[in-house]
Amino acid sequence: MEINQVMVIGAGQMGSGIAQTAASSGLEVLLYDVEESRAEAGRESIGKRLKKQVEKERMNDADKERIMRRLAVTTSMEKASEADVIIEAAVENMDVKKTIFAQLDAFAPAHAVLATNTSSLSITEIAAETKRPDRVIGMHFMNPVPVMKLVEVIRGLQTSDATHQTVTALAESMQKTPVEVQDYPGFVSNRILMPMINEAVYAVYEGVSTPEEIDSVMTLGMNHPMGPLTLADFIGLDTCLYIMETLQDGFSDPKYRPCPLLKNYVRAGWLGLKSGRGFYQYE
Ligand code: CAA
Ligand code: NAD
Repeated sequence: MEINQVMVIGAGQMGSGIAQTAASSGLEVLLYDVEESRAEAGRESIGKRLKKQVEKERMNDADKERIMRRLAVTTSMEKASEADVIIEAAVENMDVKKTIFAQLDAFAPAHAVLATNTSSLSITEIAAETKRPDRVIGMHFMNPVPVMKLVEVIRGLQTSDATHQTVTALAESMQKTPVEVQDYPGFVSNRILMPMINEAVYAVYEGVSTPEEIDSVMTLGMNHPMGPLTLADFIGLDTCLYIMETLQDGFSDPKYRPCPLLKNYVRAGWLGLKSGRGFYQYE
């Protein structure tokens, strides 16, 4: 299938990263968010990151401007009618995603593929909200999108081979390496990563050590590029909590219970890097 126009739903850290990567690989991109200011902020963050690339002489000003011209913002879901592929990257909440997919199904052309960047939620359940479950699929990018090579491609129960091929080819055209996984809670990436992060939060909660020391153990001792608590702040503590809840619900297994300290931080609005405070302070 030929892909010219990609629409990205949600202009947060993931949506803006996906939009940047798609536009950098030559696609026309429409970046949607619920408020004009959020969509614009997403586009501005892309401009800033590209400016850094120019400063590092990885591209020139003309390249940057060409990429920025391929990036339009919108607050109109009806614009889905112009897209060949739509990648949803709104908050990690099933009700929000179901509402978005029902709307996308109403506006997107019949040939369009509807992909979700969900970290953990059931692709099959999201797809069932549409009249085209064969054209719904998981396309799970890693954070920060412009840097990380992996895209987990998750087939729902009704995803067709053609949809899988389209999305695999799209990921490759964005210079990513697609890896196919099946539709179970947290897929592979977050089934393994998030219990480690949650365990690190328990280690803080139980007073085993401080966030700084726990992170040092994992960076210096295991060569992880970021310690688990720095990574949790980077991902967003709200997203970490949503993922743990999905694992706990999906497997009905107490080993996935989210740490009460993680819950408290999210209740306080301490969401990590994006809110200025999490396990560390950023302001
Ligand atoms: N957005 C875009 N690019 C970024 C970036 C960001 N937020 N942060 C860093 N970069 C780029 C830098 O511009 C730099 O690019 P160049 O090589 O072109 O100069 C490159 O990344 C390296 O950056 P730095 O030298 O400043 O920093 P670093 O060497 O410490 O690397 C990092 C930064 C790549 C983020 C590294 O710390 C890392 O790999 N951390 C772990 C990230 C990770 O585990 N991601 C997965 C999270 S889980 C997930 O995504 C799934 C989920 O569902 C929750
Ligand atoms: P974020 O909080 O940075 O951004 C979410 C964006 O969604 C915000 O701009 C918000 O305005 C927008 N939004 C909220 N409700 C919306 C709606 N109804 N319609 C459209 N947009 C809406 O979150 P994020 O970290 O970018 O995560 C987005 C998605 O990507 C989540 O499903 C998350 O699980 C997944 N994900 C996150 C990471 C990560 O490391 N943060 C990695 C991979 C996947």
